[in-house]
Amino acid sequence: MTVTVPSSWAELVEDLMAEGVLNEPWRSAFLAVPRELFIPEVIWREDGDGLVALHRAENPQEWLRQAYGPRYVITQVDDGTPAGPDGRGRVPTSSASRPDIVALMLAAGQVKPGMRVLEIGTGTGYTAALLAHYLGASNVTTIEIDPELAARARTALSTAGYGEVTVIIGDGACGHPAGAPFDRVLSTVAAPRVPYPWVAQTRPGGLVVTPWGSAYKHAGLLSFTVHADGSATGGLVNTTISFMELRDQRIPWPEITDVVRDTDISELTYTDLHAAEVCNDDAPVAIALQVPGCHREYVPATDDEGHWCVWFLDAGTRSWARFDYQPGARRWPVHQFGPRRLWDEIATAYQHWEHLGRPAATSWRFTITADHQQASR
Ligand SMILES: C[S@@+](CC[C@H](N)C(=O)[O-])C[C@H]1O[C@@H](n2cnc3c(N)ncnc32)[C@H](O)[C@@H]1O
Repeated sequence: MTVTVPSSWAELVEDLMAEGVLNEPWRSAFLAVPRELFIPEVIWREDGDGLVALHRAENPQEWLRQAYGPRYVITQVDDGTPAGPDGRGRVPTSSASRPDIVALMLAAGQVKPGMRVLEIGTGTGYTAALLAHYLGASNVTTIEIDPELAARARTALSTAGYGEVTVIIGDGACGHPAGAPFDRVLSTVAAPRVPYPWVAQTRPGGLVVTPWGSAYKHAGLLSFTVHADGSATGGLVNTTISFMELRDQRIPWPEITDVVRDTDISELTYTDLHAAEVCNDDAPVAIALQVPGCHREYVPATDDEGHWCVWFLDAGTRSWARFDYQPGARRWPVHQFGPRRLWDEIATAYQHWEHLGRPAATSWRFTITADHQQASR
């Protein structure tokens, strides 16, 4: 099938090369694989607090602009059934990732000719096609949990000439034992807990690469080397990207009103730890590792005096804390409610991080075995 790729795509590819984000052989793959074959006729765009459909037939120019643009393209909402009013979507549940992030993930995978790769999260099939272009389609296996997306990706891969890619419908967290061992497992879905089957199904010396994060921070990209004893060790190789999570590891993003009631009687204490300290730089990764299930929400000032606050929320135990910033103060009030004292947990994690010498996010060493996962210094 012949597709005329817009010149803007070649420009974007050259920009990514100039920025050092994209390298050969992926530049050739980016230019050879027609991205639009993988983008569905209906995509979704952010509009206010919802997601609205954009049909290719209704606005082909805009559709093409999105398909070949520098941003991610939302390709499914709400697991396939738009849940908002008037056919709007609420939550993106599949997307073609941003081209620079695809490039970054492929580079982190250190894929070489002759390798066999398992991709988790087929989505559109575009990343699988890039891998197939470089490695040969028969060396690529990809798993998608959503049967409709998997079927669509399979068709797109065939149309683009990569029909020999193995597309599995299933839970990527289980990997694909029948195809193991792989040289690489590359996940394009975030795994707050890295599924051990990915390690078990990678040959010793191979790599597992996956986005990772927690409610406190979407932390970036983890890369693990698998060892002969069945363990894997690694760390963050990027601290900025964020991805949707594996379906059964989705992180709830509660509204403040989901957790906080007017009738809650909170405990008031004062702190000299500024909320900015626990929300910026490398501290959030350290806190994310030690304070599970805690989501944070900054509420900017609405008054002339510049009062703002940060909420810390755990919907699971209905615990919350609120840091109230008051300009000019040296100590600030903190209200806490519920079985967890979230601010106390955060402050303890922060002090531990300081005690360790404020380690960079990339300096934590992650270990995975069949029984446990931990991060240490
Ligand atoms: C960001 S998209 C992946 C983008 C894709 N690599 C591409 O090139 O278009 C994440 C995908 O992971 C899928 N997914 C979520 N949980 C999964 C799971 N447990 N197993 C397999 N796929 C999963 C989602 O349905 C979604 O299609």
